[in-house]
Amino acid sequence: MPNANAPLAVICAMAEEKAALREHMTAIETRDLLGRSVTLGALEGHDVVVAESGVGKVASAVTAALLAREFGCRGLVVSGVAGGLDPSLHIGDTIIAHSLVQHDYGHLHDAALTPFRPGVPPLGPNRKDIAFDLSPEMVERLRRVAAAIQLPDLPGDIVAPESQSAHDRPEGLPRRVLMGRILSGDQFINSEAARRRLHQEFEAQAVEMEGAAVAQVGALLGLPVVVVRCLSDLAGAESHLDFPRFVDAVAPGAALVLRHIIREL
Ligand code: ADE
Repeated sequence: MPNANAPLAVICAMAEEKAALREHMTAIETRDLLGRSVTLGALEGHDVVVAESGVGKVASAVTAALLAREFGCRGLVVSGVAGGLDPSLHIGDTIIAHSLVQHDYGHLHDAALTPFRPGVPPLGPNRKDIAFDLSPEMVERLRRVAAAIQLPDLPGDIVAPESQSAHDRPEGLPRRVLMGRILSGDQFINSEAARRRLHQEFEAQAVEMEGAAVAQVGALLGLPVVVVRCLSDLAGAESHLDFPRFVDAVAPGAALVLRHIIREL
């Protein structure tokens, strides 16, 4: 049973994502943990240890396990950006994961991958239980808080009408904060065909490269895992252009949502 007074571990893959949180932390101290810079402090009065893990499932899983062991953390959080899979979403919308799936773990036969639960041999009957899910009580609490969060408009210069990007948010449409399924894999998704397949096959809202790996660590250690992702791109043919264009503007969206929900974690 985790100690209720222990800090929460927050894992950010990239420096931009960690910087967006650090701005709002108080009582800051920085330490090195096996080459990772870890920032200790408080976020909205709650003790946190925030680390930049590096990108991908292994980097984030190792960091999550290190933080949990070194600081006796009571829960694991991943905060940052993601690619949108659901065509009803726009850049700047934010998803809190009620369900996390590693979309690249499974049995590859001919061109198709049958997904399996990470950690079990991907052979034999498909066990179906591929997702790491939040408890229904936590989902309900987070859904209530999420519904009341208002995100500020994205800066005008990056959503300017002369922009070439087809994915810009329609003018005046408020940014949304929703619960959804987030996929993780060791791939940056930059293909409309892949976006459509992942959305349809997994009924998922967003894709990134860490959250479901941290969920696997949480399941092993008996720790709750919450993943908050603001959309930097829509995982389609233009995501390689949208990601660098929007990452700095949307990373604070995930940080803001985390500040609102942290009292529920
Ligand atoms: N993180 C942000 N955008 C992403 C994408 N398109 N694919 C995977 N991870 C992402």
